[in-house]
Amino acid sequence: MIHARIIGTGSYAPKKVLTNHDIEKMVETSDDWIVERTGIRERRVCEKGQTTSDLAYEAGHKAIKAAGIAAQDIDLIIVGTLTPDTAMPSTACVLQSKLHAKKAAAFDVYAACSGFLYGISIADAFIKSGMYTTILVVGAEALSRFTDWEDRTTCVLFGDGAGAAVLQRHAGKRGVLSTHLHSDGNFGDLLHIPAGGAAHPATADTVERRQHYIKMKGNETFKVAVRALEEVVEEALTHNKVKPEEIDLLIPHQANLRIIQAMAKRLNMPMEKVMLTIHKYGNTSAASIPMALDEAVREGKVKDNDLLLLEAFGGGLTWASALIRW
Ligand code: COA
Repeated sequence: MIHARIIGTGSYAPKKVLTNHDIEKMVETSDDWIVERTGIRERRVCEKGQTTSDLAYEAGHKAIKAAGIAAQDIDLIIVGTLTPDTAMPSTACVLQSKLHAKKAAAFDVYAACSGFLYGISIADAFIKSGMYTTILVVGAEALSRFTDWEDRTTCVLFGDGAGAAVLQRHAGKRGVLSTHLHSDGNFGDLLHIPAGGAAHPATADTVERRQHYIKMKGNETFKVAVRALEEVVEEALTHNKVKPEEIDLLIPHQANLRIIQAMAKRLNMPMEKVMLTIHKYGNTSAASIPMALDEAVREGKVKDNDLLLLEAFGGGLTWASALIRW
């Protein structure tokens, strides 16, 4: 049986820390409110001049090293991001150049917070089809550049960072067992950046009206997220005939501690089996799962043959799961 196996992970968070107390000085909010509603205590933000591809490079480089391969061995680079360096070229192409991954094809996946799992799914399909052998999947975001630092309903939530995984063809039982991807564009306006695309190109007016920043109807998004995640997790378990108690580690997208706790409760899973990074990084969108995965690996929380359940939800709307035999 051919599987796409993760043979190396890496992650990177910018050095600059922004605490809730720092944000208290910027907008009408409090550390208590942010911690109670989200579980976030601090987040990292890019230094001036640092871009999404810089973060992706750091994470990607570490993943390649951990995998024990050379950048030239990579056939394909997939970057999940909603904060690309530029509209063109793709951040994946910028990364391909920075890594000197000479033979790699490269493209971005635009699925917001589900971007990394969409990338894993694509990599899995390419590897199973025989088209590629070694694929680098990265989730990288410079959300601070798209955050309205005058809007307290969103600016407390997001952070910057990147995580990466090298997947390779494996003739055996370990690797990606399943992925499930979903979307519902009818809910697009719950979480969006109104201007800067073909619908509303940048003008002085769009800038004046702060239309280039992330807008979110948090409460409505919350409700849809809980329902969609429950369904996608159920789907993964049923498809693989796996019981919740067989899961060794849940690695959820880190958007809100209450959403994560609701999922753990639903699965009857103790919080010790759930990876949490939200307190220190906030919501890093496509980067959150690979950052948490890399941390789990580095902390020795993942052992050979463990069963890992990854789940994500984000703008689009998009949601997804991946079940992995480590
Ligand atoms: N500080 C203090 N008060 C704030 C605030 C802040 N940073 N942001 C909003 N508030 C206020 C609101 O104005 C509102 O006040 P009102 O009752 O006087 O109108 C009150 O707090 C409650 O706002 P609400 O939006 O209902 O809070 P919430 O409990 O839903 O929490 C989120 C807000 C954003 C934390 C939460 O909805 C959430 O996490 N949503 C889902 C995020 C998500 O999953 N996104 C998808 C993946 S990226």
